[in-house]
Amino acid sequence: MTPAHFNAPLKSATAFAPATVANIATGFDILGFAIHNLGDRISMTRLERPEVKIESISGLASSTAITLDPAQNTAGVPLLKMIQELGLNFGFSMRIEKGIPLGSGLGGSAASAVGAVVAAHALLPQELKNKLTKERLIHFALEGEAIASGSKHADNIAPCLYGGLTLSHPGDDPDVTVLPYPKTLAVIVVHPEMRLDTKKARGVLKPDLFLKTHIQQSSHLAALVAGCCTSQFHLIKKGLVDLIIEPQRAHLIPGFYEVKRAALESGVLGCSISGAGPSVFAFAESMQIAEHAKNAMIQAFKAHGKMEAQGWVSEVNSDGARVVEAE
Ligand code: HSE
Repeated sequence: MTPAHFNAPLKSATAFAPATVANIATGFDILGFAIHNLGDRISMTRLERPEVKIESISGLASSTAITLDPAQNTAGVPLLKMIQELGLNFGFSMRIEKGIPLGSGLGGSAASAVGAVVAAHALLPQELKNKLTKERLIHFALEGEAIASGSKHADNIAPCLYGGLTLSHPGDDPDVTVLPYPKTLAVIVVHPEMRLDTKKARGVLKPDLFLKTHIQQSSHLAALVAGCCTSQFHLIKKGLVDLIIEPQRAHLIPGFYEVKRAALESGVLGCSISGAGPSVFAFAESMQIAEHAKNAMIQAFKAHGKMEAQGWVSEVNSDGARVVEAE
């Protein structure tokens, strides 16, 4: 017989939610992937009343800029929605530890939203927990992203929750597909010491484009997806050429084209803006090329953008957000 305490709900849980790179050059608002070594940690306990409290936000000096009001916070909003939609008679109190720099284009708001949902999910009664698949959890996390960027796109949320490289659809039904990718694919992410507001970066985009540009960009997007699915690096290289978004946002990132040139000269497959920027990412065929490119990109930010920068090299993170401590 199962001991009575076995099915007792957990009292506390901590989730780690990884940083993510959205868009991947040609998949604006629909493609994204998760990386290793960088992310947010959300520690959650249950409250007796159905309410949400944010006890603290720590980790980064600028995290004081984030509101503790759950109704305005990217991690608070999904939990308020969860309590309301599931009719929970208890609530959640959380501590947020920001590892992802704010306004970096590395999916910080998505990580806090996903981390909160994953940690809260761990505290639900077992029966409810079983019913709440990732397909349902993503809807709660999306509510947090909508607060942050003003639009419901899952290109950071989906890879953060599912891990790997994901295709999702904008709007209320993201219908996520986790795509295959070459196992040796190396990822470089470089973050210059500046913040860029996602709403501002979306605000510079023109609403129209020429049919010819649409056709060319579609062929690049198809090449990227096909190249990832079939491990053909020459297709991935073709797919990393963005004719629409990058040219409109490059001026927001001092030294962007020099950083990109430094990456390409180091032998990467392609390089573009990570999400809404200012971070820049690149794909390489090996870790060795990636390490070399990372250093060259950091130097280029210093020389041409007049900014210090920090870089990471990793494989694509196939795990996604997960509970790392529970009791
Ligand atoms: N796809 C989004 C953008 C990512 O580039 O604006 C940031 O939420």
